[in-house]
Amino acid sequence: MISTRKLTKDFVVSRTDTVHAVRGISLDVEPGELVAVLGPNGAGKTTTLRMLTTLIAPTSGTATVAGYDVTTDPGRVRRQIGYVGQGNGAGHSQRVTDELSGQGVIYGLDRRAAKRRAEELLESLELKDLAQRKVSDLSGGQRRRLDVAMGLVHAPGLLFLDEPSTGLDPQNRANLWDHILRMREQYSMTIVLTTHYLDEADSMAERVVVVDHGEVIADDTADALKAKLAGDQLIVTAAPGNLPELARLAEKLLGAREVVADCDRLSLRVADGPAALPELIGSAQQYAVPVATAQVIRPTLDDVFLNLTGRTLREADSTGKAAA
Ligand SMILES: Nc1ncnc2c1ncn2[C@@H]1O[C@H](COP(=O)(O)OP(=O)(O)O)[C@@H](O)[C@H]1O
Ligand SMILES: [Mg+2]
Repeated sequence: MISTRKLTKDFVVSRTDTVHAVRGISLDVEPGELVAVLGPNGAGKTTTLRMLTTLIAPTSGTATVAGYDVTTDPGRVRRQIGYVGQGNGAGHSQRVTDELSGQGVIYGLDRRAAKRRAEELLESLELKDLAQRKVSDLSGGQRRRLDVAMGLVHAPGLLFLDEPSTGLDPQNRANLWDHILRMREQYSMTIVLTTHYLDEADSMAERVVVVDHGEVIADDTADALKAKLAGDQLIVTAAPGNLPELARLAEKLLGAREVVADCDRLSLRVADGPAALPELIGSAQQYAVPVATAQVIRPTLDDVFLNLTGRTLREADSTGKAAA
């Protein structure tokens, strides 16, 4: 559905200042995938999406989207895709239903078909009761749902969503996700979205592409990224005198890393926590250094990011400004 090779975008800001926003991204997305592009502010997420949706031209490299080259065939690409940009917040005095059917007409539907399609989408996205409201009167969550409807009006097989849930409260985020996942099912869509919410990428996307400073630094399922890059943390408590022996066992038997003893508590990292835990407890018993309590803490995508970049995603900001 998408294939990019060494896709690059430089913004020439002045004679002496060029921003290397995207530095050679190679990415493949299969039909039906839901891919989250995760990265801090300024990482190049929006720029990448704008190239894939033909809004800006790549500086170099290639990208095919829905079978067409973004540079030589932008018109055909546009007909196959929907794009919901990063919210602009601009007020509109149009009514919701007119805004939506108007978008359909722009995409080449006749008025009747556009109206029908608008009604169907308002129904699916639970906006029907708001159809006669002015767009400017919608709440943030309702507005974002309308944005998604606008991206779906011409029934694209591929939908790009740029930070769809940024600025929404947790309940509205969950609600928007519900709708996105249902739309995906209903219209068998491929979805590429960007987010800087770790938990969101973690729970919603099957695949997470982590970008930083314009480059892909990891690309896999959230589970695989966590297993590969961070591993699980084990925390066991035991009599303080037994901790050195437990630490030795953990290192020898489990290949544990980051082994830290503190009072009666031993913390360590292993590749597969649920498998390692019974092994450690069993050997501890055997060596007469019993464990009192034990727990496995699975890593988050923030641990993955930290592991890859030495920064936490919350602190990270590729533009050098304070993160939002
Ligand atoms: N039109 C532009 N002109 C100059 N620099 C830009 C332009 N658009 C984006 N940038 C810069 O490119 C980098 C990547 O931006 P962007 O793709 O918006 O990041 P993200 O969406 O991941 O936050 C940032 O340093 C940003 O300031
Ligand atoms: Mg952005």
